[in-house]
Amino acid sequence: MPPEVVFLNGSFVPYEQAVVPVEDRGFLFADAIYEVIRCYGGRFFRLDDHLERLEQSAAALDIPLPYDRARWAALLDELIRRNGVRDGSVYVQVSRGVAPRSHAWPQGLQPTVVAIARPGGTPPAEAVERGVKAITVPDNRWGLCWVKTTGLLPNVLAKQQAARAGAYEALFVRDGLLTEGTSSNVFVVLDGILYTHPLANILPGVTRAVVLDVARQAGLAVREQAIPAVWLERAEEVILSGTNSEVLAVVEIDGRPVGGGRPGPVFARLREGYLARVAAETGAAVEPGPGA
Ligand code: PDD
Repeated sequence: MPPEVVFLNGSFVPYEQAVVPVEDRGFLFADAIYEVIRCYGGRFFRLDDHLERLEQSAAALDIPLPYDRARWAALLDELIRRNGVRDGSVYVQVSRGVAPRSHAWPQGLQPTVVAIARPGGTPPAEAVERGVKAITVPDNRWGLCWVKTTGLLPNVLAKQQAARAGAYEALFVRDGLLTEGTSSNVFVVLDGILYTHPLANILPGVTRAVVLDVARQAGLAVREQAIPAVWLERAEEVILSGTNSEVLAVVEIDGRPVGGGRPGPVFARLREGYLARVAAETGAAVEPGPGA
């Protein structure tokens, strides 16, 4: 079912009427930025972190954002309320605007702002309980992976390759090092230490930051350092984090089992800690899930 109303350029309009001109630069060039923000029990989780990242993406591409954080918060609240979404997510996109096609852009464009709310977004119970499969793929993306742009074709192709292989996620490998997933950050547990790629040409995941915080508070040894992909063969656990994935265990990579082939104890602690943060910050009653 499509959402009832969509936010488009300052108004709430019926889904069918929410259309964008064919020369929108988001359509022509992927000249646009986006965020995906979860809500639990009608309250956004880490909204401010997402809006801060949206501002950073906008600044990187020199796209002027039309709203301040308070205005974004108010309109996104209204969007989920009007659509009756309590547990779900909002997709926010800001493109540079509409102009006759030319690579360089003219001054004074009005950005196109779209926000769409949908219910759902929680990973399937089976994925949480049994873990998920992943494949590795070459990271052939550009040098600005920290900018959350809609230019996602490498991610889309890799995710499709994963889906064809019966896997949930594709993990990017750049120069022999594991960077991140197509729509998630990745953690590896080896010799009891939790590793994740440092914030260098990866997306600074909001969920990644929560997981690191939970891990440090739990007293786990944490290292933000590059992870050789060959470590995956010896990894005790591999864990994904992301707005849609929340926290998930990877139990098979490229057809080889990870650790014991089932979600491990570090995953259980991190997922439990993540859900505890969600509950504390949104007031929502969330299912603790296995291991909690
Ligand atoms: N993707 N890495 C990439 C490349 C991503 O696209 C995402 C999120 C993440 C995780 O970031 P966060 O924890 O802030 O969601 C990491 C969103 C959900 C998407 O493209 O749908």
